[in-house]
Amino acid sequence: MVELGVNIDHVATLRQARRTYEPDPVWAAAAAELGGADGVTVHLREDRRHIQDRDVRLLRETVAVKLNLEMSCVEEIVGIACEVKPQQATLVPERREEVTTEGGLDAQGNKSQVAAAVRRLQEAGVFVSLFLDPDPAQLELAAELGAEAVELHTGQYALAPERDRLTQLAALADAARRIRDLGMRLHAGHGLNYHNVQPIAAIEGMRELNIGHSIVSRAVFVGIEQAVREMKRLVDQAIRR
Ligand code: PXP
Repeated sequence: MVELGVNIDHVATLRQARRTYEPDPVWAAAAAELGGADGVTVHLREDRRHIQDRDVRLLRETVAVKLNLEMSCVEEIVGIACEVKPQQATLVPERREEVTTEGGLDAQGNKSQVAAAVRRLQEAGVFVSLFLDPDPAQLELAAELGAEAVELHTGQYALAPERDRLTQLAALADAARRIRDLGMRLHAGHGLNYHNVQPIAAIEGMRELNIGHSIVSRAVFVGIEQAVREMKRLVDQAIRR
């Protein structure tokens, strides 16, 4: 089975547009669960532009499926994660000016900081995944640092023009094989939508997909429960083929 983690950051983006109490990501998480989500994902950014500390704490108490916290390796956020203890943390790079996460974590360039974050989170009992580009050196290092999973960055695949799509897919499939051979759990995410998700879901050994923007976008028209159900159906169909 490929688990579907539903990223609800953009429900919080809408709330923060007015700095009010609605729509509440806690409600969104419950609706996502009703639609068949296997996990709920949120990114507590250093600038708190969408998800707030209160959301993470409440979600930890209310989400019945897996809570996956996307986060940078900075001291403050690692401290919150160790206190709240989501089931899973996914370490991502973060730049304040970016609209969304723009690429995989540079574990090589930030080795001591990433190693320290992995260690602290694991000591707190949190399962650690690293969000990485399909770069063999980064994948090897993830295993060396003791990461339990790698989430492959699918952004390049998602943005690729039609003629380059298969090349991007092949690179992801190669990286996926390496991740499995290194004994880590295989996840993927970023830029996935109702049109491009199936080839990624069908990569051998895929265990988890984290999808946000496309699901929340569709939810504006059909509701969160239905939007999640439709994505879950596509993922299930892809692995049965
Ligand atoms: N995975 C990671 C590590 C991310 O940073 C994001 C964006 O927050 C996603 C998955 C979801 O990406 P999208 O919103 O494009 O589906």
